[in-house]
Amino acid sequence: MGLLQDKTIIVTGAGRGVGKYIALMAAAEGANVVVNDLGAGVSDQKADTGPAEEVASEIRAAGGRAIADTHSVADWDQAHAIVENALDNFGQLDGIVNNAGLLRDGIFHKMTKEDWENVISVHLNGSFFVSRAAAAHFKMRATGSIVHMTSTSGLVGNLGQANYAAAKMGIAGLSRSISIDMARFGVRSNCVAPWAFTRMTGSIPEDNPLYQERVAMLDKLSHGQKVAPLAVALLADSANGITGQIFGARANELYCFSQPRPVHTAHESTGWTAQAIAETAFPQMQRSMTPADTSPSYFNWNPV
Ligand SMILES: NC(=O)c1ccc[n+]([C@@H]2O[C@H](COP(=O)([O-])OP(=O)(O)OC[C@H]3O[C@@H](n4cnc5c(N)ncnc54)[C@H](O)[C@@H]3O)[C@@H](O)[C@H]2O)c1
Repeated sequence: MGLLQDKTIIVTGAGRGVGKYIALMAAAEGANVVVNDLGAGVSDQKADTGPAEEVASEIRAAGGRAIADTHSVADWDQAHAIVENALDNFGQLDGIVNNAGLLRDGIFHKMTKEDWENVISVHLNGSFFVSRAAAAHFKMRATGSIVHMTSTSGLVGNLGQANYAAAKMGIAGLSRSISIDMARFGVRSNCVAPWAFTRMTGSIPEDNPLYQERVAMLDKLSHGQKVAPLAVALLADSANGITGQIFGARANELYCFSQPRPVHTAHESTGWTAQAIAETAFPQMQRSMTPADTSPSYFNWNPV
């Protein structure tokens, strides 16, 4: 018996990279897998049935059960069609990995409206649309596990990724909200921050030395294989009780991330004036403030 024996799992963006390895491992653990991937290009959202079908065929060739699905997660109706596809083919749905994504990096003062909207649309809207499409089914069966891909680009910060950081922090909030709202129906929701060298990380602009170093290190870490066990473990019933959390997988290291909580309180019995805040509260709080650093300040060693 596999960890996901006879469960049905949707993995979005599973034609390549991290999602592909999650789909392969979910199938190897006994799941029926809906391999969703629009087959998007690096710089466009044009459809290509190739990547999803290749991964689904690979699963079937190994004796597993999988179908390819090429709907876009970024569209409300198509997201519902992905869930319908799972139900029509396998009769039930037990888990979702919201993994589909893209990058449109750019320094903030030059970021275009289109680059902002594309990234928010696929990552944040897509994660909401697919999760929401499954909510009634999960509620009816009083079960369900959702795994969302977040990123330290949002959780910590990174240069030139305002659109991506906003989407990935939004996904952390979305996951937390689902975990709270759906707990009464036995539905769990968690985030994973992955590290892997994929087509996506390969598209990070190379004119920034910080990124050149980071991408070179990612290439040594993993191409997605090291992220799959964490996603599969979160989908499994053995993770019951684990919800609303943010984890990370980087080569052979796993992380559990903190989430924002008040770390300092300042009280003024007569109420705060702006001047008193500047003169008293801010200096007091200085030692509790978060430094203006970025993700590579924390993840700068080669753990392989
Ligand atoms: N690779 C990393 O180090 C890293 C770091 C942090 C977060 N992530 C996150 O992990 C996830 C997977 O990233 P990856 O590196 O494997 O990227 P990838 O580019 O290799 O794979 C993403 C897949 O999503 C698909 N896709 C794009 N738009 C879609 C849409 N509208 N509908 C359905 N599919 C769509 C693409 O066709 C592609 O195959 C993403 O959410 C990404 O933000 C990756």
